[in-house]
Amino acid sequence: MVIEIGRMANGGGMLYPYQGIWPEIAENCFIAPGARIVGDVKIGAGSSIWFNCVLRGDVGVIRIGERTVIQDGSVVHVDSGGFDTIIGSDVLIGHMALVHGTTIENDGFVGMDATTMDGSIIKQKGMLAAGSLLSPGKIVGEGEMWMGRPAKYNRDLDESAYKALAKGAKKYVVTADTYLKEYKDL
Ligand SMILES: CC(C)(COP(=O)(O)OP(=O)(O)OC[C@H]1O[C@@H](n2cnc3c(N)ncnc32)[C@H](O)[C@@H]1OP(=O)(O)O)[C@@H](O)C(=O)NCCC(=O)NCCS
Repeated sequence: MVIEIGRMANGGGMLYPYQGIWPEIAENCFIAPGARIVGDVKIGAGSSIWFNCVLRGDVGVIRIGERTVIQDGSVVHVDSGGFDTIIGSDVLIGHMALVHGTTIENDGFVGMDATTMDGSIIKQKGMLAAGSLLSPGKIVGEGEMWMGRPAKYNRDLDESAYKALAKGAKKYVVTADTYLKEYKDL
């Protein structure tokens, strides 16, 4: 019986292959204990994947840029119908989000417990509010906030609202670094 086939990533989370393809994680990422990353997934420098996330790049690919934060318990998957999940840099995805076959451009924001479905797009600095459901193919425009189930356009984010959100993402980069240093010595 195979007890454990994975490799441990920086921080204690686990990486697994699918059809011989392993995830590629930049050196200084924090992959928290309980996180599981499978198959064709690439993650850029300074990004963090928090406790108990699952990122499964099997029937498509997952790409994640730099300094992006995916908070605890989130699930990121793809769809075999051609919907990869492409997440840019400086993106924040809140706790328990489900991101499926979606593109999220740089500085995008997905609130906690929100869901994005196949073919949906969140453009640069776009925000999906906590608990919302972005249905298939819907597009959150640049700097727009969408809210609700199903999510609808709510308003344009002004610069101060956007800065407050961006601050949250930046704080997480520092927190992730603190965890990384502490866990390296254990
Ligand atoms: C969208 C958000 C920023 C609040 O927006 P807001 O417009 O400032 O909301 P307000 O508090 O002014 O509330 C305005 C109305 O929208 C409703 N509302 C607020 N957030 C909502 C949400 N996420 N979904 C549905 N309705 C929401 C309020 O109940 C209120 O309704 P009412 O007018 O009937 O009383 C907030 O809900 C959110 O999603 N924050 C993200 C938090 C997060 O996930 N962080 C990551 C983890 S650290």
